[in-house]
Amino acid sequence: MTDTDVPGNYGPNGRILDGPGPRSIILDCDPGHDDAFAIMLARGSPGIDLRAITTVAGNQTLEKVTRNARAVATICGITGVPIAAGAAAPLVRPLRVAADIHGASGMDGPALPAPTVPLDPRHGVDVIVETVRSQPAGSITLVPTGPLTNIALAARLAPDIVGRVREVVLMGGGYGGGNVTAAAEFNILADPEAAHIVFGAAWPVTMVGLDVTHQALATPEIAARIADLGTAPAAFAVELLEFFGRMYSAAQGFAAPPVHDPCAVALVADPAVVALRPAHVEIERTGTHTTGMTVTDFIGRGGVALDHRVGVELNRDLFWDMMIAAIAAISEG
Ligand code: RIB
Ligand code: CA
Repeated sequence: MTDTDVPGNYGPNGRILDGPGPRSIILDCDPGHDDAFAIMLARGSPGIDLRAITTVAGNQTLEKVTRNARAVATICGITGVPIAAGAAAPLVRPLRVAADIHGASGMDGPALPAPTVPLDPRHGVDVIVETVRSQPAGSITLVPTGPLTNIALAARLAPDIVGRVREVVLMGGGYGGGNVTAAAEFNILADPEAAHIVFGAAWPVTMVGLDVTHQALATPEIAARIADLGTAPAAFAVELLEFFGRMYSAAQGFAAPPVHDPCAVALVADPAVVALRPAHVEIERTGTHTTGMTVTDFIGRGGVALDHRVGVELNRDLFWDMMIAAIAAISEG
């Protein structure tokens, strides 16, 4: 086995839990244009059983990202899946939003419908804990695509779930540099203390960082494939990309927007989508220029265990085929 053949599906204590049927996930997100694509992929992929959506302040305030999550769920016809609001701020630091990319609403561009999907009255962290406890050990995968505040709080509130969660597959970080600073990616920089807790807990963690997600560019050809589906969810997706693309071009000079968050969901649905390498990741929390950096060791200097998995390459064709098929499936739902 080469170091890029690390399979993605470990359970507690490293047990491989590959088995038939879709992977049960909780999507913890901060919609967010690319979070919306993660919701659509989770809804439409046959490889995913979406068990709950929890929201966390990040791209915008908790109120706004939660409204956006409910609106996307309404567009996708998601019913019977709890949607619950989680943390309104990072563990220690003040909230910093990403209006430069996602706009004042957190999902500027398309007109959003009034949500018809109810808001679960429980706190999002309680929904994470209760859902994990209610399912067989090793069956629930946590997929965070925003700051890791809720995941860290869940691990502290209910340490027993750390051994029950199959794995944490997160969008965040990167070993080749950041996007908010030269060193730090937004989700990690938003709450480095939470990231430190999550990467340091005794559950399997897979980091799908910018090294992978900057390969998931929604080019005009991809947008055209989505538009050709000719359905309401497809039209919504195209409108998201139009705004997201303009903002990414203005803010970071991208010719096409990187659709970060569904890369994590896609990896859970099919390990072939992202090549992984074993590594050890530490979170920088005090550096003047490096706070929020995911310091990634692929060698194991000083004998440190390579206890994390880090995405290194995206199978672009497979990813976009999965993403577009999922949007099509939503239309048929
Ligand atoms: O850095 C990209 C990440 O930050 C994505 O999850 C995006 O939605 C924002 O949350
Ligand atoms: Ca996000």
